[in-house]
Amino acid sequence: MKITVIGSGYVGLVTGTCLAEVGNHVCCLDVDPAKIATLQAGGIPIYEPGLEDMVRRNVAAGRLSFTTDVEASVAFGEIQFIAVGTPPDEDGSADLSYVLAAARGIARHMDGYKVVVDKSTVPVGTGDKVRAAIAETLAERGADLPFAVVSNPEFLKEGAAIEDFMKPDRIVVGADDERAIELMRRLYAPFQRNHERILCMDVRSAELTKYAANAMLATRISFMNELANLAETLGADIELVRQGIGSDPRIGYHFLYPGVGYGGSCFPKDVKALVASGQEHGHDLKVLSAVEAANDAQKLRLVDKVIREFGEDLAGRRFALWGLAFKPNTDDMREAPSRVIVDELTRRGAEVVAYDPVATHEAQRVMGDNPKLQFADDMMGPLAGADALLIVTEWKAFRSPDFDAVRAALKQPLIFDGRNMYAPAWLRGQGFTYHAVGR
Ligand SMILES: NC(=O)c1ccc[n+]([C@@H]2O[C@H](COP(=O)([O-])OP(=O)(O)OC[C@H]3O[C@@H](n4cnc5c(N)ncnc54)[C@H](O)[C@@H]3O)[C@@H](O)[C@H]2O)c1
Repeated sequence: MKITVIGSGYVGLVTGTCLAEVGNHVCCLDVDPAKIATLQAGGIPIYEPGLEDMVRRNVAAGRLSFTTDVEASVAFGEIQFIAVGTPPDEDGSADLSYVLAAARGIARHMDGYKVVVDKSTVPVGTGDKVRAAIAETLAERGADLPFAVVSNPEFLKEGAAIEDFMKPDRIVVGADDERAIELMRRLYAPFQRNHERILCMDVRSAELTKYAANAMLATRISFMNELANLAETLGADIELVRQGIGSDPRIGYHFLYPGVGYGGSCFPKDVKALVASGQEHGHDLKVLSAVEAANDAQKLRLVDKVIREFGEDLAGRRFALWGLAFKPNTDDMREAPSRVIVDELTRRGAEVVAYDPVATHEAQRVMGDNPKLQFADDMMGPLAGADALLIVTEWKAFRSPDFDAVRAALKQPLIFDGRNMYAPAWLRGQGFTYHAVGR
């Protein structure tokens, strides 16, 4: 099949590449000429395990191409995926301007039947807006052409995006046009050879499913973070509590890790957008408002512990920080808790030397103007003479460091661990003062 993907970011590039991997011909469009130039030159603009090889393989096979030419990209595919960003507007609601611009771009140049598939995360009712934008633009052209609008939200996780796309838990297809549904079934057949994974539903339910999924996951995290804070006060160990509840199959072990709060490009903006959508329609989503407030507070939890140790004024202090990305296996710095933590430490006068296995470049782009923040090339580098080590992202490389070397390098053996990486009793036995979350 011939497919166009509009927006070549984390979702669009993975979608396009995986669709090419199973034999389709895919044209990826982006408005960012630098991104397209990188891709055309054989590079990839983001870090995602396995993606670079897959892109190269499919480009070499002639199945994957990149362009900034809207007219050519519209002509290319019968199926047109929209995978552009939907960042929060000032009031927290999703900014649909990119989605609607992509839809109008299709309508401006189409000359036959198109299936417009919305993969971006969008509020309920966006399908109708996309349909209206296309109809309006076609009317301006005096063209009467058939098209269908489908909602096909994406559930991939950054860091495991290829695996998630190639072996999805489910494929949600929201549509009411039989021809479009048939095309979507054919398109996704290679990804569900083991068993049927397509859940066909109406467009509105599909749109809400995506927000409901992210809101539920964010809720689990905020729930555990609040309990972790309580556990600290009560003298309980949240890690034991986590195992105690996770063993119940109705609860399960996933997404019960307390930490420094959720970040990334999805949970924060999707929780906000769902709350805003509720408000717009007269529903006060109290649980989700609390999820967001608890998360905002949690991002400063590690700094609170530092203040308890060193006092409010951190001038003259230097901290080593491990992990900048919002989670391991990605370079994504959007809404990363590290940003809030570094801002607050440096605002109080401290210097921070940070190390991240892959996100340093991206961190330099978004935080590089902070004169009190430096970046190190290796994980032991920041430790020399630092007042303490703070762990913010749970990269595998941090799981079992050379603790003797860590102790020797730090000014004093003091660790603030925002990800509960280590066994507290053992570490204390090694002479460390160890502050974790909820234990
Ligand atoms: N990142 C994730 O893990 C993830 C997972 C599931 C769903 N989503 C959703 O997918 C959507 C995209 O997210 P992302 O992380 O890939 O964003 P991104 O910012 O990485 O990529 C979006 C791309 O779209 C391009 N773009 C914007 N307007 C365009 C236009 N009119 N024509 C062509 N290109 C255009 C931008 O230049 C950018 O490269 C969002 O709605 C997001 O919520 C993201």
